[in-house]
Amino acid sequence: MSQSEEIKKKLDIVEVIREYTPVKAVGANFQALCPFHNEKTPSFVISPDKQIWHCFGCGRGGDVFAFVMEKEGLGFMETLRLLAPKAGVVLKYEDPAAYSERNRLLDILELSGKYYAHVLTTAPGKVAKEYLLKRELSEETISDWHLGYSPDSWDSLYNFLKARPISGKKYTDEEIFLAGLIIKKDQAGGSARGYYDRFRDRIMFPIWDVNNNIVAFTARINPAKEKTEKMGKYINSPQTGVYDKSRILFALNKAKNDIRKEDLAIVVEGQMDAISCHQHGFKNVVASSGTALTTEQVALIKRFTNNVALCFDMDDAGQMAADRGIKEVLAQELNLKIIVLPYGKDPDECLKNNPDDFRQAVRGAKLMLEYYLEKISAGLDLSQLDNKQLVVKKMLDMIAKVHNKVERDFWLHKLSESVEVDEALLRENLEKISKPEGVVKSSQPHSAAKSQEAAMSREERLAELLLAILIKFPEFISYTVSNLEPDFMAASILMRFYNNLIIYYNKFTSLSYEDFRVYLEEKSEGDEKLLDKFILLGEKDFYNFETNQVKNEIIKIIVELKKYGWQKKIKKLEKTIALAEKNGQNAELEVLMNELKSLTDQVQSLNIN
Ligand code: UTP
Ligand code: MN
Repeated sequence: MSQSEEIKKKLDIVEVIREYTPVKAVGANFQALCPFHNEKTPSFVISPDKQIWHCFGCGRGGDVFAFVMEKEGLGFMETLRLLAPKAGVVLKYEDPAAYSERNRLLDILELSGKYYAHVLTTAPGKVAKEYLLKRELSEETISDWHLGYSPDSWDSLYNFLKARPISGKKYTDEEIFLAGLIIKKDQAGGSARGYYDRFRDRIMFPIWDVNNNIVAFTARINPAKEKTEKMGKYINSPQTGVYDKSRILFALNKAKNDIRKEDLAIVVEGQMDAISCHQHGFKNVVASSGTALTTEQVALIKRFTNNVALCFDMDDAGQMAADRGIKEVLAQELNLKIIVLPYGKDPDECLKNNPDDFRQAVRGAKLMLEYYLEKISAGLDLSQLDNKQLVVKKMLDMIAKVHNKVERDFWLHKLSESVEVDEALLRENLEKISKPEGVVKSSQPHSAAKSQEAAMSREERLAELLLAILIKFPEFISYTVSNLEPDFMAASILMRFYNNLIIYYNKFTSLSYEDFRVYLEEKSEGDEKLLDKFILLGEKDFYNFETNQVKNEIIKIIVELKKYGWQKKIKKLEKTIALAEKNGQNAELEVLMNELKSLTDQVQSLNIN
């Protein structure tokens, strides 16, 4: 068995996909909103039996590898590396050439994380370790989060990495540089060459992506230098091929299961806050790392929950980040709340004082627009016209970002009550400022999928449904064959598929999914993909059908397909007749007219039945 087969066998495709979109059991299968296009009703089906998936909205489908490759935008080797640990498989790299650049960068970062964590336990790391303990992080937390220390040296990480080749292939300077760990020396003088370590004399926090890869580091200043050092309190890895800070949420890899369980993601600002929250048992917490939430970060959260509570620092910067984060979130249809800390400048301080106070703050989180309304009207006399106008303007700007109509209505009503302005008037103003381009933009993927669906005619859809039923209930193949010829199958690929199904079934008088798949693969016309699609379509639409329902459905579809087929023939015949008339071919004309009559009779008889 190849490593990819082993991984596939050990993985549960449903569990893998569940990390990207909530899935629901329906019969023996699972359904979900498609994570590849926008939709309101699920057309994405997973068959755990067959270990395949298909979206009937956008047409994508395949196995677990195809899913992760497409969703993460990764190559095969990279996907292998991502899925192996989930399957509990240790990858053996037999072919270093096939091992991708991205994987090598991730290996370098992982190795560096181990290095920094090790240094923290040695004499040079003593001050850093003491500082972490003084901040009340436990030994367990320090090791769980792989906290480390980068020595006060220009080349210790560099030398360490250079001495550790993987699969016999040494890391190059370029690779270590691309991982963001070393900086090119200033070459202005012409003589200087080489690199130096980016992180020196700092407490190291690995930053993981959602799949548990270290993709970057954030490094806190040596506390002894906090007053004198000119560089920032924290310095971070630069953007690299594996790290895009707008697409990473600190601690999401550790928090994702609890976020799903609690159906809530708490977003704090600092990584120290996130770590402290986890240590105090709040495990559904992630950190935005000091910036406003980006669209991509919100999309990441939406894989696990639709409920977000922001708990940002009480200082001005924190509030600004919150305000910008809020706009981002509102536009993406998430339920957003704001956690207001009773005291302390950040969650870490509040927790240290009394975790129960933090718990209560989480429970008492305010709906975002309620919080905002309170904030902007604090201290204002709302009986004054200019105050009223100010509050209305700011609130309508926010409400305009809300896509959900019911919610919009709710907030208009609330606003109208609190500023005592007529609701209809507010609505009118809202319509003026609502920006249509935002809506259009977000609905684009949706309409793309729509058009793909619409591009398929009803006739084709019926033919596909028929094939799906036959694959699910092969005992009806013989009946169907004797009632419907292949040329009624709407499109040439469907005819070919139907033909293959008939030939296969006649030969073996039973239908084994695996064998039929091999049979199709051997024809190398690519029809095995259609098989996957039809299997899932059958599971989706007919999973609870009884025998007599199946038969009725088949009869109905056959009648419809025949109508379409005959009508096409009639149209063609009519053209030929017109041509014959024009050319005065009377003998031919009579034959054609008779043909036409018998065809229309057949259509008539279908209508009567
Ligand atoms: P804070 O200054 O609130 O940091 O910045 P903190 O988490 O409270 O740090 P401690 O508690 O003093 O150790 C919040 C976040 O902003 C980013 C970091 O991600 C930090 O966690 N930040 C802050 C930087 O990236 N660079 C900086 O210089 C400062
Ligand atoms: Mn802090």
